[in-house]
Amino acid sequence: MIRMYDLIQKKKDGKALTQEEIDFMIDGYTKGDISNEQMSAFCMAVYFKGMNPDETSGLTMAMANSGDTVDLSGIDGFKVDKHSTGGVGDKTTFIVMSIVASLGIKVAKMSGRGLGHTGGTLDKIESIPGIQIEFHPDDFLRRVEEVGACLAGQTGELAPADKKLYALRDETATVDNLSLISASIMSKKIASGADGIVLDVKTGNGAFMKDFEDALKLAKEMVDIGERCGKKTAALITDMNAPIGYHIGNGLEMMEVIHVLKGVRLATDLIDLCIELSAHMIQLATDAPIETCREQAHRQLESGAALEKFGDIIAAQGGDTTCLDDPDVLETANIAAFVSAPKTGYITAMNTETLGLVSGMLGAGRQTADDVINNYGSGIKLTAKTGDFVEKNQMIAIFKTDDEAILDSAKALFLQGVEFGPEKPIKPPLIYARVTKENVEIYQNKD
Ligand code: URA
Repeated sequence: MIRMYDLIQKKKDGKALTQEEIDFMIDGYTKGDISNEQMSAFCMAVYFKGMNPDETSGLTMAMANSGDTVDLSGIDGFKVDKHSTGGVGDKTTFIVMSIVASLGIKVAKMSGRGLGHTGGTLDKIESIPGIQIEFHPDDFLRRVEEVGACLAGQTGELAPADKKLYALRDETATVDNLSLISASIMSKKIASGADGIVLDVKTGNGAFMKDFEDALKLAKEMVDIGERCGKKTAALITDMNAPIGYHIGNGLEMMEVIHVLKGVRLATDLIDLCIELSAHMIQLATDAPIETCREQAHRQLESGAALEKFGDIIAAQGGDTTCLDDPDVLETANIAAFVSAPKTGYITAMNTETLGLVSGMLGAGRQTADDVINNYGSGIKLTAKTGDFVEKNQMIAIFKTDDEAILDSAKALFLQGVEFGPEKPIKPPLIYARVTKENVEIYQNKD
């Protein structure tokens, strides 16, 4: 008979658990037969002794199978998913899913809400009036089949073991273990049912993994798990030392998405990242050379096919598509306050985490999962970014909010997050590396 006490002891001694033992533990914990005390002790033992690749993928599968799973097998063709480890101004999902779905590759996307300094894809799409994000599983699948893509909150209860375990790890200082993080993220992706997964692993001052080496380890571990669990998986390690694009905040980000889909070519970092992510999703689906996939992604964006697909996705989810003709309708906050540069010089660095927090203060975010977003048009429109030269008193950002009382402290915090200097800073690469099951390819800095 398997006993949780013995599994804790085994891990404490640095030994590997069998799949049967892992299944016993996750099943018992999900049902409440194994206590939080025992599970905490186990997580701490993992923190110090680690898990080998077999155990990590075994844990992932056990958590993925702990609740509902999405069965996409009834939908023809290759189904592909994308996951970002979380950033500021990250609105790539909307553009990428439109590009990929416009090529006939199906995207069944389940997303979450924002918390802390990072925004949530669901909050962003909800800035579009009328949009529906909760579906019966059959309705979700029907939209994926008919339209090519659907973006929803979770249908059913996916990976409940992870939900419980993540909360416990948060309370017991055991979040920051590579195996536990990788298994946590990948369990939800595996339960979501896609055949292929592209992971956008962020690194930099606004990312969960601040260090490139840590991001690389996480990417390798998640790709390994994905492949072991039978999913074609690739990861890009991408920069989060500046917000992506110029807009931060739900409706403001959707405006920027629509501008890009309509051909505005200002936010080049956003566009380049979307092309690269789309190309990798297309490659997983078609096995074509990556350069061909990049060309296809470009063509879909430039031809307006992605814009048309985005309109179809929004319409199928009940959203009001008038914002496609006039994206400015999404800028609903009443106050526009300008932020000026305190000195002349180059913007040498932006603390992206701080900028994300400022956007939250202005009304775009939530401090706890239960908070509501009062005005989806709140947030920041940057008018200058790292590497730009600005004169003293030149406008560098516009704050949009309904909360006048917060403006002074928001400006002060924002300016703490922006550094100025006499030298133009060296631009970091947008994409540092690509990780596949075959190899790690380090990208060159294009500038
Ligand atoms: N995100 C997750 O979903 N799980 C982790 O453990 C860390 C980040």
